[in-house]
Amino acid sequence: MLENILLEENIARISMPENLALGLMVAKQHEKCASIGCKFDYFGFAFGQSPFPIPPPLSLALENSAEKSGYADAEGIFELRKAAAHFNARHFGLDPDPELIIIGPGTKGLFFLLFSILSGEIIIPVPSWIGYSPQANFLGKKYHPLETSPSNGYKLTAENLEFFLKGRRDKQHLLILNSPHNPTGQIYSKDELSALASVCRKNRIIVLADEIYALTAFDFSNYTSMGTVYPEGTFVLNGLSKDRSAGGYRLGICHLPDADCSKIRQSLQKLAATVYTNVTTPVQLAAVTAYSENEEIAQYFTVTREIHRIMGLALSKMFTGIEELQVTKPRGGFYFYVNFNDLKQDLIKCGVNNSNRLGKALLSHPHHIATVTGDSLLLPSNIFGARIAYVDYNGRRAYEAFQEQPPGNNEDEEIAFVKKYAPLMVKGAGAVSDFVAAVKSGKVEMI
Ligand SMILES: Cc1ncc(COP(=O)(O)O)c(C=O)c1O
Repeated sequence: MLENILLEENIARISMPENLALGLMVAKQHEKCASIGCKFDYFGFAFGQSPFPIPPPLSLALENSAEKSGYADAEGIFELRKAAAHFNARHFGLDPDPELIIIGPGTKGLFFLLFSILSGEIIIPVPSWIGYSPQANFLGKKYHPLETSPSNGYKLTAENLEFFLKGRRDKQHLLILNSPHNPTGQIYSKDELSALASVCRKNRIIVLADEIYALTAFDFSNYTSMGTVYPEGTFVLNGLSKDRSAGGYRLGICHLPDADCSKIRQSLQKLAATVYTNVTTPVQLAAVTAYSENEEIAQYFTVTREIHRIMGLALSKMFTGIEELQVTKPRGGFYFYVNFNDLKQDLIKCGVNNSNRLGKALLSHPHHIATVTGDSLLLPSNIFGARIAYVDYNGRRAYEAFQEQPPGNNEDEEIAFVKKYAPLMVKGAGAVSDFVAAVKSGKVEMI
């Protein structure tokens, strides 16, 4: 019998992904709670999944393509590449050439392909979504977390980038630029992008623009894609996961730089064909509908964006009302970021001496608040930061209610909407306030 199957070393270089790690942490906390007779689940500020049902034209299109079971082109079927190119042109002003589009298994899968083929160390502004660094670790690719400042909404500035580049200007680098940003909910303005683009242009920096939340930008008419500001050096990534609530469909789009990309295209095709052949054919066919002009999907974008705005602004305001917390005001996406550092001394007195432990303390009884903290945001251990995802409510109910009777355009009605359709999140904000009070009185016990 085989007793000891040996594994490759690179798998040990990655830890359990955030969603799995969090699931284990929650399960462990449930066990502890059960031992004292507590049955309460948790306040779910951790998982970043759209709460809405997918747009009906998309699910119908998938049903209709179920029998299209043949293999497809590694870079994606032409019909979809064409629809996606026109979609990106309509919404973001990108070049509508289908030859610039590669279809991949989610943006996560596309990042993996790009990290695999593009030479250069990676620059990751932090706090950050956790997805990038484990892939870099796995591939043995060096990355540099670049700390950003709260005074600037945690956005990377041209000056930060210039400073980092001292002594390394001769090499190609890959800069991750995520806007709207996970975890802070901030959005880079056109001027901020232009300033960054001029540094990138001078220093062989290729931008991997993670724009998966672009269509959720609350003020979408003022949204700028990095692909329009620095077209010759930007890979723009987006997909179905967030704005069309279809994370499980695993379909992402990469818009290549407007340059001679024939070698890049070929390398991506080669790798895709070697590893997974093609993204599921029926999903690609269904996605043609999701990327084509469609009144119902356009309406879906408008309604879901508005609900995200109402939820995000109301909830971040509730958190801002808790004196010791520094809270970002979201402008898109599903998240805001909370800095607990004003409570640092009190946290340390309670044994919460780093940001990973902050996550555990928030989850502990009687607080039951699930968030993402610490290493999962690529934070240094002395920064006590947490990501709050504001998507824990019945999205179908909220969507239908909004369509029937949207709240009036004033704060009181919007807050009433949040209280009615997302009561657990409102209660969760109260639980955070109680947690802060418990920390200040030295009464946080991690059971
Ligand atoms: C910033 C960011 N990029 C990418 C992804 C992954 O997107 P996909 O489902 O397209 O792989 C996520 C998902 O949470 C994300 O938050």
